Amino acid sequence: PAEMFAPERINSAGVEFGDRASLERLTDSVAAARGPAEAAPVIDGVTQAGTPRDVVSPSDARTVVGTVAEASPEIAAAAIQAARKGAVAWGRVPAEQRAAALERAADAMEASTGRLIHLLQAEAGKTLDDAVAELREAVDFCRYYAAQGRKLFGAPQELPGPTGESNRLSLRSRGVFVAISPWNFPLAIFVGQVAAALMAGNAVVAKPAEQTPLVAAEAVRLMHRAGIAPGALHIVPGDGAVGAALVAHRDVAGVVFTGSTEVARHINRALAAKDGPIVPLIAETGGINAMLVDATALPEQVADDVVTSAFRSAGQRCSALRLLLVQEDVADKVIGMVAGAAQELRLGDPRDPATHVGPVIDAEARARLDRHGAALRRAATTHYAGEVPGEGHFVAPQIYEIAGPEALTEEVFGPILHVARYKAADLDRVLDRIEASGYGLTLGVHSRIDATVERVVARLSTGNVYVNRNMIGAVVGVQPFGGHGLSGTGPKAGGPHYLTRFATEQTVTINT
Ligand code: NAD
Ligand code: ALA
Repeated sequence: PAEMFAPERINSAGVEFGDRASLERLTDSVAAARGPAEAAPVIDGVTQAGTPRDVVSPSDARTVVGTVAEASPEIAAAAIQAARKGAVAWGRVPAEQRAAALERAADAMEASTGRLIHLLQAEAGKTLDDAVAELREAVDFCRYYAAQGRKLFGAPQELPGPTGESNRLSLRSRGVFVAISPWNFPLAIFVGQVAAALMAGNAVVAKPAEQTPLVAAEAVRLMHRAGIAPGALHIVPGDGAVGAALVAHRDVAGVVFTGSTEVARHINRALAAKDGPIVPLIAETGGINAMLVDATALPEQVADDVVTSAFRSAGQRCSALRLLLVQEDVADKVIGMVAGAAQELRLGDPRDPATHVGPVIDAEARARLDRHGAALRRAATTHYAGEVPGEGHFVAPQIYEIAGPEALTEEVFGPILHVARYKAADLDRVLDRIEASGYGLTLGVHSRIDATVERVVARLSTGNVYVNRNMIGAVVGVQPFGGHGLSGTGPKAGGPHYLTRFATEQTVTINT
């Protein structure tokens, strides 16, 4: 039903970047909120000691943004123990109160816009528009799950049955959820996972990505102040070993993970190897996301949408375009226009509102992308390879033509676009090839022929399909987001089925 998809709430307001006064208000609030930041394990609201480490800026590794005290496996175990107790109390808090606390957390995040955007820019290298969009997504997740949760977890659903019998169905919390998130949406995905698990009445032990603990720590502070019980939300910063220790703990009732397919497999195996209850995994992973452009597409619009999809956010979105497939009749023209549009992109300091492309996350990411670019410059046709600015982990947008879709076999997580041509007569073979990759996250289609669009949609099972527009920036409640196969387990974040996976179902039948 329609009301399932549109609970009573509206998404957060954006910033009008074209309006100078609004932009200045925003940049002033960000500048005023700079200053040292700290993250540490927090269990039952109490800050714990850990191994200290500097968090540095991806724009310039000499700039220390803050410090993190990283958790040991013992601290991780202590957090699970505390969450086990906290889950009992939080699971008894009425759904209405849990929802209200999440809504207050959303308000608090909006009220902390300057600080959160500062942290997103400083530790994750987000451009201003990306940081604003990310904060909005975090806020929207809280309000969406709160509204959805009131319906799902409020009163039990009465079910029909024979005379003399009453039947009802309720959703119940599972217990302790471990939430493991990536660096590329260090606020939105971190908060989205946590908010969903909490709304369902679970206690959460959250592990942010090692690259981006500071903004996550700030979000937890705001959530606690907003009334999320300290016993219900614990944070343990650290690397993959801390994540692995959490997953392996016997008292974990569920894991929600967003990150690489490889790590999702590790977690899946670790959960399967444990004795005791079967523990569900909600995993959202990567993709080899393609866009099909046929001869009827509008080349100017294609160029704009390709550049946005492949290069904005430095290509560091799981949704980003990796493989552009262009019908050969228009390929020279389209590729030329895409390369021309890519040249217009401005790389540099993400704090400058005029910057389109900021840094990649760290030296390792840059080295991996540089190696991939160098290999393609030898083995493929280079259509564009931009210049990088001086300091920092910058990778310029690049466009390479490869032999065909089969030549790209893994996700390349950065601003490198692979292009291949196809013949109109080969469209079905190309579609089968996309499906055969095993990934199914996002897909773009540019065609003015409705029958072609329907043919593509019918043949592919990709999770999020975008027609005649760019293919990034899914909006909560509007484009519920997520894929299947190598791209994840579903359900879609920001969609009507997400919360149910954080819960168990109980039916009660009474002979009256
Ligand atoms: P990653 O898999 O390296 O790390 C993700 C998280 O897992 C981090 O917190 C990390 O510390 C933790 N981790 C690492 N090893 C672990 C282990 N053995 N056990 C438990 N936890 C472990 O991913 P990343 O580099 O942080 O993020 C980029 C990836 O995330 C890309 O593949 C991207 O496509 C994907 N992603 C997917 C979505 C989506 O919604 N589908 C959204 C954003 C990012
Ligand atoms: N939800 C993010 C997007 O759609 C990953 O770009």
